[in-house]
Amino acid sequence: MNKMRNTLGAALAAAACSLVLSACGKGAAPATPAASATPPTALAAPADAKVAKIFGSTCKSCHAVPASGAPQAGDAQAWAPRVAQGKDTVLNHIINGYKGMPPMGMCMQCSEDDFVAVTEYMSGAKLQ
Ligand code: HEC
Repeated sequence: MNKMRNTLGAALAAAACSLVLSACGKGAAPATPAASATPPTALAAPADAKVAKIFGSTCKSCHAVPASGAPQAGDAQAWAPRVAQGKDTVLNHIINGYKGMPPMGMCMQCSEDDFVAVTEYMSGAKLQ
């Protein structure tokens, strides 16, 4: 009985050690991710009530959740290359979906104008 517990204890200890070890291995370069994780500039609530409603009910669930992989609302740097693609391409990506971005951003009743307005709000840039 005692022996079994010891064996289990040793196994657990070994598992814990390897966890610690792998954590240590990864911990070698923590500076880079921290630097790119600069919090986006604080973003004021949208001035436009419709934009606020659309953003709050759909887009926000990804575009204000960094783990989603979506460019974050207020993070102008993340949006710059996307905005630079031009309005047509960006709209096409919104409507048809693009990688992790679901078609219509899950706002089925949204118009193209709505998408442009919300994207301009999130990016802080004018779509052209
Ligand atoms: C389920 C999560 C999710 C929702 C909801 C969502 N998005 Fe996205 N969106 C993403 C992800 C992830 C990307 C990044 C795709 C990539 O480039 O890998 C993205 C990218 C974009 C882009 C950039 C496309 C490009 O051409 O680079 C725009 C614009 C955009 N979203 C607008 C919106 C709008 C507007 C809404 C709300 C109507 C919305 N999204 C809702 C996840 C989401």
